[in-house]
Amino acid sequence: MSTASARSEARAGSADLLVDRFGRRHTYLRLSLTERCNLRCRYCMPAEGVPLTQKDHLLTTPEIIRLARLFVGMGVEKVRLTGGEPLVRKDAETVVEALGAMPGLHTLALTTNGLLMERKLDRLHRAGVTHLNLSLDTLRADRFEWLARRPGLDKVLAALDLALDYGYADERLKVNAVVMRGINDDELVDFVALTEALPIEVRFIEYMPFDGNGWANDKLVPYAEMLDRIGERFPLERLDDGPHETARTFRVPGHTGRIGVIASMTAPFCAGCNRLRLTADGALKVCLFGQAEVSLRDRMRAGATDDDLRATIHAAVQRKKATHDGIEGIADAARRAENRPMILIGG
Ligand code: 5AD
Ligand code: SF4
Repeated sequence: MSTASARSEARAGSADLLVDRFGRRHTYLRLSLTERCNLRCRYCMPAEGVPLTQKDHLLTTPEIIRLARLFVGMGVEKVRLTGGEPLVRKDAETVVEALGAMPGLHTLALTTNGLLMERKLDRLHRAGVTHLNLSLDTLRADRFEWLARRPGLDKVLAALDLALDYGYADERLKVNAVVMRGINDDELVDFVALTEALPIEVRFIEYMPFDGNGWANDKLVPYAEMLDRIGERFPLERLDDGPHETARTFRVPGHTGRIGVIASMTAPFCAGCNRLRLTADGALKVCLFGQAEVSLRDRMRAGATDDDLRATIHAAVQRKKATHDGIEGIADAARRAENRPMILIGG
């Protein structure tokens, strides 16, 4: 579609602007608030760190809020704040307050490593954060320190307790663990045991290759194997999942919480994909594994109107492919550093 016709469509009825060529309606925006992090997780960033974008190339808070409002006007109903570690951004709460007050936005989720939660949760909760995902890949302090290249397990566990105190529970409180063979795959059942008493969803995520993150095919534990290994210790009952759900969910009969497995690598869920990503430097990415990006920051700073931005976003969504490249293609792209490392995309 030409820019002009996208523009007139933008005025006519903007809700359809985020539907792609395959009929996928994009109602979910993952918005990265910063590239910085107070941990250095091995699977997320290379040992040498990442060259950070100059501050004036990152989106300002008014720019973030302007874009978020545009996306919500185009049909986005759920925003997840990611990073880096989103709470490292000094005015994360200001962004959350603006989003929390936006009509049409039903779900405001936050993915965090929890380290700054004690200081910030009260205000985030009041501002309308509805869902929390806490990243936690190991329950062992020494292993945590190795994996995250920093200590912090106590703080993350305290953050989990605090989130429960604030009433986050069930599908609104998730613990995300990236499962890596020979690194933390011996803790699968320990994580499942957490769900006995806690009303949380523990999600096991297949290890994905990104630039410089130490991925190797043999470190990937396919979800089917995760389930087999959990099944040796606990019976598992399958639960219903929504159409856009990336996780397959299960419950151990009698347990309060549930578990989910996210098979991004061995059983991709592209057909039901409803997500878009906005990086901290203002690039719109229509696929986590795609290199395609369009800089909304540059357009805004060149004076684009809201209609212009809607047309740019629409055009990018139209270029979205049906599926991503599969394990080997993604691993190759990561080896050639063609995609960004995860920390620069937003978890
Ligand atoms: N593989 C899978 N998930 C990853 N994340 C970051 N890097 C990877 C990777 N290589 C996700 C994790 C983490 C969040 C911040 O990003 O879920 O909890
Ligand atoms: Fe930070 Fe999360 Fe990446 Fe770990 S995975 S380095 S906590 S952004």
